[in-house]
Amino acid sequence: MDLTGNVAIVTGSGQGLGLAYAKALAAAGAAVVVNDVVADNAEKAAADIAEAGGRAIAVPVAVGTADAAQTLVSRAVEEFGRLDTVVTNAGILRDKVLWNMADEDFDAVIHVHLRGTFTCVREAVRHFREAGHGGRVVLAGSPAGQRGNFGQTNYAAAKAGIAAMARTWAMECARAGVTVNAIIPNAATAMTETIPFLAPYVEGLKKGGPFPSVVRRAASFGTPEDVAGLVVFLASPASDGITGQCIGIGGDRLSLWSHPTEISSAFHDGGWSADDIAEAFTSTVGERPETYGIPLPNIPTTQHKSA
Ligand SMILES: NC(=O)c1ccc[n+]([C@@H]2O[C@H](COP(=O)([O-])OP(=O)(O)OC[C@H]3O[C@@H](n4cnc5c(N)ncnc54)[C@H](O)[C@@H]3O)[C@@H](O)[C@H]2O)c1
Repeated sequence: MDLTGNVAIVTGSGQGLGLAYAKALAAAGAAVVVNDVVADNAEKAAADIAEAGGRAIAVPVAVGTADAAQTLVSRAVEEFGRLDTVVTNAGILRDKVLWNMADEDFDAVIHVHLRGTFTCVREAVRHFREAGHGGRVVLAGSPAGQRGNFGQTNYAAAKAGIAAMARTWAMECARAGVTVNAIIPNAATAMTETIPFLAPYVEGLKKGGPFPSVVRRAASFGTPEDVAGLVVFLASPASDGITGQCIGIGGDRLSLWSHPTEISSAFHDGGWSADDIAEAFTSTVGERPETYGIPLPNIPTTQHKSA
């Protein structure tokens, strides 16, 4: 993959997945605007990229506002002369079960993920349209947004919204030659090491051990670097024409998520009363209800222990 001459913004790229994306884009030749709310991490990431022979600047602002988005896009253009790709990766968790979730927990997550994505992409697309050379938008979704997840009212809502925005923007931006896709990643990072089921694997990785193959496949779980190839692909001409998709990646698995669609229907002349629905629901449209929540992968218990 050769992205020489391309310019990319990666939000939240001071650590974790964003850092892997920024390094992989730079290694492919793109100049990168490294953004993070933690300024030291952003500076270090940009310095590491430069030391490895790449081009990067750090722009440490907190995404979520129009001002921050404008700063990111204008710094990219001032420093590198253009903008081709925006990767909206910055994120936080404030997990609590619904009845314990404070307004502040809800608003903080919606602000960074949903508003941060909206404001950054709006600004980037305004630039793409004005420049007339098209562009690439890569959003960060999550299995929680696709299926729902216990304790993640705020996060699941934000990530489901991001998937919906990917589909909406794919339509709106097509004429301008801008593709919009969401990555549904899975990787060992600060964010996932707090998940009890995954903790032993993250611990094992920190000790230098590789993930067992069964984890990389069944749990689709690996390193941030395992995910970065998809970002480079989506930023490259090789992904021309791919838009409006939610693409899963983690460990050894690459996947395509389905979009919500009606899977069964029934008809009743003159419409449906509550009684009509009560009589027909379980034998017609509700015969096979949809599942919800992220299913645990089928990994033998011994593998859990040895990781
Ligand atoms: N790790 C996974 O398996 C996984 C799974 C699904 C989705 N995701 C998503 O991938 C993205 C990256 O997650 P990660 O696992 O690398 O987490 P992480 O916590 O390691 O990294 C998130 C980064 O975003 C930064 N950040 C937070 N708020 C910010 C703001 N307002 N402005 C700028 N930067 C901000 C943090 O400082 C941090 O560097 C997130 O959007 C997350 O929801 C991750």
